[in-house]
Amino acid sequence: MRVAVLISGRGTNLISLIEATKTPGFPAEIVLVASNRPQAEGLAHATAAGIPTAAIPSQGRSREDFESDLDQALVRARVDLVCLAGFMRLLTPGFVAGWGDRLINIHPSLLPAFKGANAHEQAIASGVRIAGCTVHFVRADMDTGPIIIQAAVPVLATDDKATLAARVLAAEHRIYPMALRWIAEGKVTVDVDDRVTIADLASAETGLLISPAP
Ligand code: GRF
Repeated sequence: MRVAVLISGRGTNLISLIEATKTPGFPAEIVLVASNRPQAEGLAHATAAGIPTAAIPSQGRSREDFESDLDQALVRARVDLVCLAGFMRLLTPGFVAGWGDRLINIHPSLLPAFKGANAHEQAIASGVRIAGCTVHFVRADMDTGPIIIQAAVPVLATDDKATLAARVLAAEHRIYPMALRWIAEGKVTVDVDDRVTIADLASAETGLLISPAP
């Protein structure tokens, strides 16, 4: 499976996907890393790993112009699946519909709670005891779409948004490669009611509450 990763910033989830896809026998390869911010630090990680990059600036352009360039780059690279990994630009319903169930995202909350850019602040402000992260297929509304996998972590009384974000991020780095592997293995289906089914979970994971549990 040919994968593109779209980023806007530092790219630690990108790194976790690069590391996973470089392991022998992994059923997907990253063929393009694209950023809407040319200065995104993550682009250097891709270059260091020998992966082609594309900087496609979004600032000051219409969404349609930007997405048309992005779409062309993805098609030219013969991409099968697009992974959003800290990609901070909302995509239009047209772009989202065009990629359908070939577009996934990671979000640092247990969706549908705490959508948007400040998920950790929302989690702390609301007093929840459990936080986490979600990999999901993308739908037109922000941070919605069929859920593939979630991982939960505790919220400690001493947490601020930085310490909570770090704990959640470690969980993100575990579940995004798992979701990618399952999709590339053809195990993930989206049902008519827009819920995900995963076939034949095999590998063992411990230390985090991860669902679906392999
Ligand atoms: C992650 O927390 C991700 O869930 C969110 O943006 C952050 C990106 O971090 N969508 P990084 O660029 O992958 O380090």
